[in-house]
Amino acid sequence: MFIHYGLYAVHGRHEWAMCYERIPRAEYRKAVARFKPRVGCTREWVKLAKAVGMKYACLTTRHHEGYSLFDSPANKFNAFRTGPRRDLVREFVDSCREVGIRPCLYYSVADWSDSGFVAGPKEDPRGWKRFVEIVHAELKALMTNYGEIDYLFYDGCPPDARVWRGAEINTEIRRLQPNILISDRCCMDEDIASAEQHTMGPGKPWECCMTMNDSWGYNSTDEDWKTPRQLVKVLLTCMHNDGNLLLNVGPKPDGTIPATCVRTLRQISQWAARNAEAVYGTKGNPFAYADQKLSVYRDRTAYVPLHFYHGPDTVVAGIGNRVRSARVVGTGKAVRFRQRDGRVSLIGLPETMPDRPFTVIALELDGPPRGIPHPLMGQGRAKYE
Ligand code: GLC
Repeated sequence: MFIHYGLYAVHGRHEWAMCYERIPRAEYRKAVARFKPRVGCTREWVKLAKAVGMKYACLTTRHHEGYSLFDSPANKFNAFRTGPRRDLVREFVDSCREVGIRPCLYYSVADWSDSGFVAGPKEDPRGWKRFVEIVHAELKALMTNYGEIDYLFYDGCPPDARVWRGAEINTEIRRLQPNILISDRCCMDEDIASAEQHTMGPGKPWECCMTMNDSWGYNSTDEDWKTPRQLVKVLLTCMHNDGNLLLNVGPKPDGTIPATCVRTLRQISQWAARNAEAVYGTKGNPFAYADQKLSVYRDRTAYVPLHFYHGPDTVVAGIGNRVRSARVVGTGKAVRFRQRDGRVSLIGLPETMPDRPFTVIALELDGPPRGIPHPLMGQGRAKYE
């Protein structure tokens, strides 16, 4: 679960409003008086994350607006000094530990409230130096004061890491947090490649972060919600390509997660619970050449989500193994099938989809999954070169 929470929630018009609408700093800051997180809201977030089957949660400790949600040693514009007078990072991390969710922190280097950052290192070298010192001091505090942090999600980093001494602070962070994972968003080659609003192919460990509507922070008029099926498809695509999904929620000013988010998450999680054996601990891309783009596997079992459902006419192609049995994962029902020339016809499937929003078929194979090279795709290219 990705959690975007800050003063932008009070403004309620997208977390980039300060920049997009050129809201003067002093005016923007007035929102502090209305920033009133309900007591216990961090616990509600991570309890929901846990209940819907998520394994880690990542909170925006400060976004581009420059309001730190924690007791910052270097930036007075923070939730401990002004506004709620609470350290929300501490509340969040404590809640994660209590509920059994791994705590991860997002930190934006970019700070629209800092004149040194806004002017840049060429125009205001002194101001820039001070800005970089604040960034380093805040990151050190985040990595020192809250126990073990699993993952640091950087954002808003100047592309040349030398200007903010990125390598130096990352070395320090690894000294303070030997087990941490750091995202590549700092524009250096770190542990996790980050894909924003899209998925990637297999390779270096990667994570896709995605919004459920079109805003990361709370946006009162953004009703462009993705459907449970769309989000399950994203999850399946991540699984198939060995990536993680970091799905975002933008709590309201009082810390409540919008009802549509909660409803959709619960729908997805019911599906994920029925399909848990396919969703957790599987590996991606069992057949390499097969036409089933979303499949995953464990040992000799392949899990094939049916992207297009054709009832008893459904065919899974490109399977090089002998299939011993087939069943619908979500209902446990065995499916009669016929296998010829690498094509498995699932003739026992009912006319209507037995599991929504996605039906996943488990195929028990005679050995580790083997795909049949496709004569028209992939390898076929070599023919022309
Ligand atoms: C972006 C945006 C931002 C959001 C984030 C999430 O770069 O600036 O608003 O927090 O990435 O990945």
